[in-house]
Amino acid sequence: MATAQVMEANANANMPHTKSTGPCVMIIFGAAGDLTKRKLLPSIYNLLQQNLLSREFAIVGVSRDDFNTEKFRKHVSDSLQQFGAGADPELIEWLANHSYYVQGEFDNPDLYNRLGEQLAQVDKQHNTHGNYFFYLAIAPQFFAMAVEQLGRSGLSSQERNGSWRRVIIEKPFGRDLESARALNHAVKKVLDEEQIYRIDHYLGKETVQNILVFRFGNGLFEPIWNRNHIDHIQITVAETVGVEGRGGYYDTSGTLRDMVPNHIMQLITLTAMEPPISFAADAVRDEQAKVLRAIHPMTAEDVIHNSVRGQYGPGANSKGERLPGYRQEASVDPGSRTETFVALKLGVDNWRWAGVPIYLRTGKRMARRHTEIAIQFKRAPFVLFRDTDVEHLPSNQLVINVQPEEGIALRFGAKVPGPLVQIGPVDMNFNYGDYFGAAPQTGYEVLLYDCMIGDATLFQRADMVEAGWSIVDPVLDVWKALPPREFPNYGAGSWGPREAEELLARDGRHWRNLNA
Ligand SMILES: NC(=O)c1ccc[n+]([C@@H]2O[C@H](COP(=O)([O-])OP(=O)(O)OC[C@H]3O[C@@H](n4cnc5c(N)ncnc54)[C@H](OP(=O)(O)O)[C@@H]3O)[C@@H](O)[C@H]2O)c1
Repeated sequence: MATAQVMEANANANMPHTKSTGPCVMIIFGAAGDLTKRKLLPSIYNLLQQNLLSREFAIVGVSRDDFNTEKFRKHVSDSLQQFGAGADPELIEWLANHSYYVQGEFDNPDLYNRLGEQLAQVDKQHNTHGNYFFYLAIAPQFFAMAVEQLGRSGLSSQERNGSWRRVIIEKPFGRDLESARALNHAVKKVLDEEQIYRIDHYLGKETVQNILVFRFGNGLFEPIWNRNHIDHIQITVAETVGVEGRGGYYDTSGTLRDMVPNHIMQLITLTAMEPPISFAADAVRDEQAKVLRAIHPMTAEDVIHNSVRGQYGPGANSKGERLPGYRQEASVDPGSRTETFVALKLGVDNWRWAGVPIYLRTGKRMARRHTEIAIQFKRAPFVLFRDTDVEHLPSNQLVINVQPEEGIALRFGAKVPGPLVQIGPVDMNFNYGDYFGAAPQTGYEVLLYDCMIGDATLFQRADMVEAGWSIVDPVLDVWKALPPREFPNYGAGSWGPREAEELLARDGRHWRNLNA
């Protein structure tokens, strides 16, 4: 699996690598935009620096901005100096000299004719063999149209000499089940499923990929990874930032759409899936899709009992600095009812997980930036230690830290020194950076690399996207029918509304204390 190769490569950043991508051209739609300069160009640079990028490679930028190839090369070089870590001038120059630009509006057929001419020239100059991947780093309303135009112009056809054509589609992929289906239908009219790479950049994170290695590369944990030993699972995806100048977009989306059907469902499927028969893309994705289909469909009553929504009001961060409320953010409706926090209780209806709740919470302007999956094991069956009251008997927890620290911690009980037999919780910690060093990564390297070598394991298949939306659609419907009455209901810089605590307290549980 490509992922494993890249993980190995990252771990041994100074060792020579031979497994570079084959010849190809990356065509970036939206080349003058934010994602391109902050993530895509630095990722390509990192692959180049790690000898994972073919030297028969070129970038063609497409956007309506008034660039030409010369100005775009300067843009590439400036972006790498600003956003690339420890950028080497020679490599920057190499990448800039392999960059081209075609200007135009995405709905204009002539743009695609000119793009075709440019690509033919690039193929000759850089020996890229007609292998192209189109990265749609553009607003979602243009996805279907750009794919349709690629089909009409013949640029997405794979017929000649075994050359390949692939399309990476950014998120969000739809805003509910119906629109996701319509988008799948539109892109599949033009492309085969194997040409479509629906990106979820969460899957580019080392720790997220490591869930598979941790579970299926070790014999120790899998035998206890089930309802007999696990009490429940908690997933927290907490951000301290607000809407960061994206208020206009966010106010039409909200946290549920933005985080749950994509990022959080990925975390759930990797944690809960059965062992795949191989690490081939469809073998892994088949197992992930089964988990999504096994998530208990929520009735309206389930939604009312098992979902919590919140919106932050003014507050303060841990340094005591005042923070505005969501309704005071730029481009947000001052009477907005959009949620900035979600907590859900989900169940997975299968033999492995029956009766093991998965609690998830995600929000903006929370007390600490932290993403983790916590597996809470059941308590020991019999209390031998009379001097430790049952309340303080720790149960084992395995915590997969996703960001900002990446690693895995196992919590267990140890004897507190002294004449009494008392038990206290201690942690056995593995931190990625300590073991493997920190190679500069944006999180997109693995995904771009995998697309170039044709490995779609870390990309979402059509059925997975639709299954993710099927899970949240009932929540969207009930929330729409019953607008929130008490927004804002949590202070910026806190852990969310009181109801989120009650969601677990009702079951005799509580969220992990994540204050640093
Ligand atoms: N930025 C991120 O960190 C991030 C993270 C995750 C996902 N994404 C996703 O990535 C995609 C791109 O995001 P972004 O932040 O890079 O957007 P952006 O900064 O607005 O960039 C889009 C680019 O496309 C150009 N463009 C827009 N409409 C066009 C048209 N009709 N014809 C030709 N060019 C056009 C824009 O030109 P103008 O400047 O003239 O409008 C701009 O250069 C979105 O789907 C977003 O959801 C972004």
